[in-house]
Amino acid sequence: MSILKIEGGKSLSGEIRVQGAKNSVLPILAATILQNGESVIRNCPDLTDVHAAIDILRHLGCEARFEKGTVWVNSRGMTSCDIPDELMRRMRSSVIFLGAILARCGRATISMPGGCELGPRPIDMHLEAMGRLGAEIRENSGDLICRAPALRGARIDFRIPSVGATENSMLAAAGAAGTTFITNAAREPEIRDLGEYLRALGVRVTGAGTSTVTVEGGEMRQYAEHTVIPDRIAAATYISAVTAAGGDICLSGVNAGDIAGVTGAFLKMGTELTFRGGELRCRRVKRPTPPGTVTTGPYPGFPTDAQPVLMAASTVAKGATAFVETIFQNRYRHVPELLRMGADISVDGRVAIVQGVERLHGAQVRATDLRGGAALIVAALAAEGTSEIGEIRHIDRGYENIASCLEQIGGRAERIERKDEQDG
Ligand code: EPZ
Repeated sequence: MSILKIEGGKSLSGEIRVQGAKNSVLPILAATILQNGESVIRNCPDLTDVHAAIDILRHLGCEARFEKGTVWVNSRGMTSCDIPDELMRRMRSSVIFLGAILARCGRATISMPGGCELGPRPIDMHLEAMGRLGAEIRENSGDLICRAPALRGARIDFRIPSVGATENSMLAAAGAAGTTFITNAAREPEIRDLGEYLRALGVRVTGAGTSTVTVEGGEMRQYAEHTVIPDRIAAATYISAVTAAGGDICLSGVNAGDIAGVTGAFLKMGTELTFRGGELRCRRVKRPTPPGTVTTGPYPGFPTDAQPVLMAASTVAKGATAFVETIFQNRYRHVPELLRMGADISVDGRVAIVQGVERLHGAQVRATDLRGGAALIVAALAAEGTSEIGEIRHIDRGYENIASCLEQIGGRAERIERKDEQDG
């Protein structure tokens, strides 16, 4: 089992270029099979989820390779329209390939994506949308067998904004005859980025990143290039780190508009944020004050993915913070691990109350999921003494080269491969 050993209690300094957005790369890699041609996707982070998506592309018969932050895909050789269980289970968001496979092949077989650490991850809205576009879907012993001999444009009204269902609908609609109207669409920046890539393919998309998206199916180009936007949750993670541990760091490659939903909370905590020429200077000189009540919600609300890292920073604030998690049922699994470090947090259903303490102390902890693991990193940087974080395979799903990234901002972090235990 690999662990991350962090010597905490030292203020941070340094600068880092924020990685490309994981949640943008994944749907864009799925979209590369829409056309019978080649795509060059730049600014891709080196993540296990990205490599899982590349393995799915290869399973489908495409050529795909990752080299120094760029993914090359040649989808001409696509021969398969199914994603087997072991590939579906490696990455929960594999369902994002469904719309693109249907658009390309007119049929698709995927295994039902399991739940994940965050609780049940239903895909009813994905399937309803595919049905609206003309797909027939039946379940057979855990597999979803989808047929769509002729996808046709439709009106899709989502009951709640869903990132994945919006993306799947856009990808299937790109292969449908006529125009598709998606209302109550999710508005996350990653959807705007997917729209940019689809336009590079020649798909007529308007409104991606707003609550109403239109997609017109039609001929696509056989070559497209795209540079992925910066990862706003990785940026929020580093801002949480300097808020918790103190110091003065500089983040480059941050898109100011995309992190607008989180900056308010950090400013309330007393962290100074200064944007200058595409760089964000983050400075915290004295103990943070609480950000008040933080309620997660669909973009442009406070992102659920930043709740764990902000919570870690709030554990050392001078006062209490209330969190209300409205998106996922089980997104406080990092709390027991933070308690082991001396945090004072009580959880009741969707609400978590954090009473700030003067200091956390280092401890042996385990990552429970991707952003919960990131929360432990933030806490360990602030804690007095040494922490060892296990199960960092969760962290590797969303943060590239995490130990060296932490070193770049002045953290003392070391990745240690332990042969004695298997990964849990
Ligand atoms: C995406 O997941 C992100 N993943 C998640 O990031 C992120 O937390 C989430 O959006 C919310 O912003 C990727 O983009 C790969 P949703 P997704 O559909 O698309 C319910 C991370 O840490 N729902 O927007 O799966 C669902 O249960 C990950 O990077 C249905 O009920 O999220 C949830 O309560 C974690 N039926 C809400 O909608 C459906 O068919 C929003 O989920 C689909 C979703």
